[in-house]
Amino acid sequence: MKKKVLAILVVFLVASALVFAAGTKEQKGANTIEIFSWWTAGGEADGLEAMFKEFSKKHPQLEIINATVAGGAGTNAKAVLATRMQGGNPPDTFQVHAGHELIDTWVTTGFMEPVTFILKDAGFMDKFPADVIDIISYKGEVYSIPVNIHRSNVMWYSPKLFAKFNLKPPKTMDEFFRVADVFEKNGIPALALGDNESWAATHLLESVILASLGPDRYRDLWNGKVKWNDPKVQEALTNYTKMMKYTNRDHAALANMDAAGYVAEGKAAMNVMGDWAAGYYYSQNFKQGEDWDWAPAPGTGGVFIMLSDSFGLPKNAPNRENVVKWLELCASKEGQDAFNPIKGSIPARTDGDRSKYDRYLNAAMDDFATNAIVASVAHGAAISEPWLTRVNDIMAAFTTDLDVAKATREFQAAADRYAP
Ligand code: GAL
Repeated sequence: MKKKVLAILVVFLVASALVFAAGTKEQKGANTIEIFSWWTAGGEADGLEAMFKEFSKKHPQLEIINATVAGGAGTNAKAVLATRMQGGNPPDTFQVHAGHELIDTWVTTGFMEPVTFILKDAGFMDKFPADVIDIISYKGEVYSIPVNIHRSNVMWYSPKLFAKFNLKPPKTMDEFFRVADVFEKNGIPALALGDNESWAATHLLESVILASLGPDRYRDLWNGKVKWNDPKVQEALTNYTKMMKYTNRDHAALANMDAAGYVAEGKAAMNVMGDWAAGYYYSQNFKQGEDWDWAPAPGTGGVFIMLSDSFGLPKNAPNRENVVKWLELCASKEGQDAFNPIKGSIPARTDGDRSKYDRYLNAAMDDFATNAIVASVAHGAAISEPWLTRVNDIMAAFTTDLDVAKATREFQAAADRYAP
């Protein structure tokens, strides 16, 4: 009898301890919001901080937990996120690229809650371009809130070096090789590259492919309709190998931001990188027009390779209500206009306050409104994550061995396996 009472007592004590623990966990977390991203440096961290300030002004009672995992383009963050999501331990909200990364990785697999209600309740549905709404939607529901639009196909260049050799920024690939020769003869790397993470090579390749294929066939390559042995794709791959001869010797050990820095420091003439490079220049006080300027990547004028960072609402987010507040800010004009002028991106909304943006970003807004738009491969918009992972691996080898035939075989095999 005594034993029975004791057992009941033990069960009761354990149960109360569990209830108490759960309760305190809830209470501890209730005033927090964990925001997961890979924005740890330069204009990226500064832009995020500016959004946090806006958030804290509106919701001073809430504490932000800034959960970042360093690594460009989410190199490390995406793996950490996958482990957490699959382990049932999601952050409250996380950075995710609009397009295939969002939809294929997280939405069709059932990890996310729709957030259409946030845009509808605020009357924001028509504040975003229809094409942007399209790539964050699945079966009629919106699944993330886009905070920005980045441009991938930008060539950053050193006005000082171009002036010194009396050269003009190249508009075509032929012009690129012509000016590159001049820089090379004078001992200056024409093309800064920082591919210590292989996505940066993929990033360059997408512009080089666009230059040869143009927007329609670029899309078809990533739909699997254009084959990798197509003469224009072959031309692009060959151009890529030729470009490698003009890069800085330390490229394989260099980070993408540092390669952009080489241009502003006058150590290299050009760099093809997304416009977070502008955010980096702002953060380092490099001057537009003096230390750096920009043009579309050679051969890609009139086309805008886009990508978009967004935030979503995972099912079972520990503090759902707080996430809704964060997403409301992400969707708002104030939020976007606080973030983007520092981040080096344009607002995803069409009504940004242009006076807050510099010359480069105003030009990017004009181009986004008027150019042909294609989706970035390197940044989760155009293809699924498994396909992109394979492309990055192929690029890591291709950038070193410059073997066009081998790369062609491998790219085609990846397309056969992963293209929709
Ligand atoms: C992209 C991301 C940008 C920027 C960049 C460099 O994938 O969309 O916001 O973070 O990587 O890390």
